[in-house]
This record gives sequence, structure tokens and C-alpha cells, in this order.
Amino acid sequence: MSWSERQRRMLEMMGLRVWAPEAAAVPPADEGAAAAVAVAPSAAAETRAEPAVAPRPPASARSLEPVAPPPAATGPRAAPPPEGVVATPVPAPSRERGAGRAALAQMDWTQLREQVAQCRACALCETRKNTVFGVGHERAHWMIVGEAPGEQEDLRGEPFVGPAGQLLDSMLAALGLSRQDGPAERQVYIANTLKCRPPRNRNPEPSELAQCEPYLQRQIELIQPRIILAMGRFAVQQLLGSSEAIGRLRGRVHEYQGVPLIVTYHPAYLLRNLPDKARAWDDLCLALQTLERAP
Ligand code: URA
Repeated sequence: MSWSERQRRMLEMMGLRVWAPEAAAVPPADEGAAAAVAVAPSAAAETRAEPAVAPRPPASARSLEPVAPPPAATGPRAAPPPEGVVATPVPAPSRERGAGRAALAQMDWTQLREQVAQCRACALCETRKNTVFGVGHERAHWMIVGEAPGEQEDLRGEPFVGPAGQLLDSMLAALGLSRQDGPAERQVYIANTLKCRPPRNRNPEPSELAQCEPYLQRQIELIQPRIILAMGRFAVQQLLGSSEAIGRLRGRVHEYQGVPLIVTYHPAYLLRNLPDKARAWDDLCLALQTLERAP
């Protein structure tokens, strides 16, 4: 991709429109020059990227979230016991350990999907509406790993369908990639570290990550992606076992079980930190280069 094309796509992804008179629309010679081009926020693009729904806070900011009241129970409530009668506590639904790694390693897509749909290995199964397995081409060359489903994802059973997902889709589109159309080379598979929504979008707990990790691992084995993009600190922790800041890990090629892995910011973080979108674009370009250079 030429520099000017790369710059145009980056600005498009960032929701910025370059203003230049027709005759003067000469592409700048280098990245530095791009910064000097007058850019005006594109109203249409901005509203697409920042919808009215409050964006999901970045993982790093989640613990600062005001605590919302718990969601109303959806099932029928038990009537209070008559006076003087001591109610017998109803035991919490039992939890089972997930299928062992050895069993998962033998599973095909249908079995794995079924296993996840029925998973009761951690307490998240009690509050989820749907499991969120993943979406995309089952042999996609690109694999995107996010954190955990949010409210919209929990409702729809698909990853990244809320505001962060809209940004992710436009980032992917800027590279000519899609979660639903095209051949395996131009498609992505999107999955999360957790397949169930943590209540009130709180951070995933280490034990939840540990329970869910074999599912992600099996997904990666089945897909055999050529490149993995780890978005945000929980994806990075899960795949690289590192708790270093994203800023220190991005910009170079890591590896997950022999697959090149690029670390980048989580789209929900980018919704609140516009300047880092340019860095995220560099990360996408690094992923593309890495893929193109691979044997
Ligand atoms: N954030 C994620 O990490 N994953 C989703 O599916 C949605 C938001």
C-alpha cells in the first residue's frame, strides 16, 4: 500500500476528513507531512464511530466505573414464605469443570460451539443471556482477540457488535477485511478471552480467564490463523502471559504458539483516546506487513 493510500485509509478509520482544494490535493510525501495536512472531523464518520450509546469503558478504566444497580431478574420470583416459616435456601446451580484440555483438543467446530454454549465452569454462566462464541471465517487468515462480551454482545451472542465493534469494523474495512464476506485471506475471525459477559462489564477475574482459556486455544488451533491481533490488556495477558502495558508491547511482532501476534489497543479504549488511533493504525499496518512477509 502506498503512503498516500495508507494515510487516506488511516484518516478514514479515525473518522477524519482531509480538506484540500481539488488542485492542491497532492499527497504528502511522508507520515510527518500527513500530520501537517488540515484535518476536519467528519460529522458523519464521527457519529458512526461514537454512537449515542455510551462506549464500553476500556478494560483499564473498568474498575472506575460507577456501579450500576444489578439487572432486574428475568425469571419469576419465588413468593416470600408465610410468616413463621423458615425458607430453605435454594442452592446455587451447580458448576462443573469445563471439558478437559485433552477432550477439547479433539473437538471440531460443532462440538466446541456446543461445549461453550453449555459451559457452566464459572459463575458468569448464571448472569449471561447468551454465550458469545466468535464470528468469522473458520479458516480466516486474521484472528482478532478481544476481552469479553458487553451488554450488546451478550444480547446478540456475537462479539464486538456495540460501539467498540463499530470502530473495529471500520478499522478492518480500512484494510479491506471483513468479519462476514470474502475469502479466508480477507476475512477475520473474532473471539474474546471470555465467552460470557462479566456482570456490569467488570474486568474479567483471573479464575474466569483461566477457565475460558482452553476454548480460545482450541479456536486458534482450528482456525490456524496467519496473524493474531491481541486487543487490550486481557487478550495480551491471556495469549502472551504478560502484564506489561500495551504501549510497551506494541510495535513489534510477538508469537503465540508459532503464530505471529501483534499487540494493539482495545477499540473501546480508542473510542476515548483519539490520539492513540494513529498508533492502532500503525499496529494494523505492522500486522499486514508481517502477513505479507510471511513465507
Ligand atoms: N469488547 C470486547 O473485548 N469484546 C466484545 O465482544 C465487545 C467489546
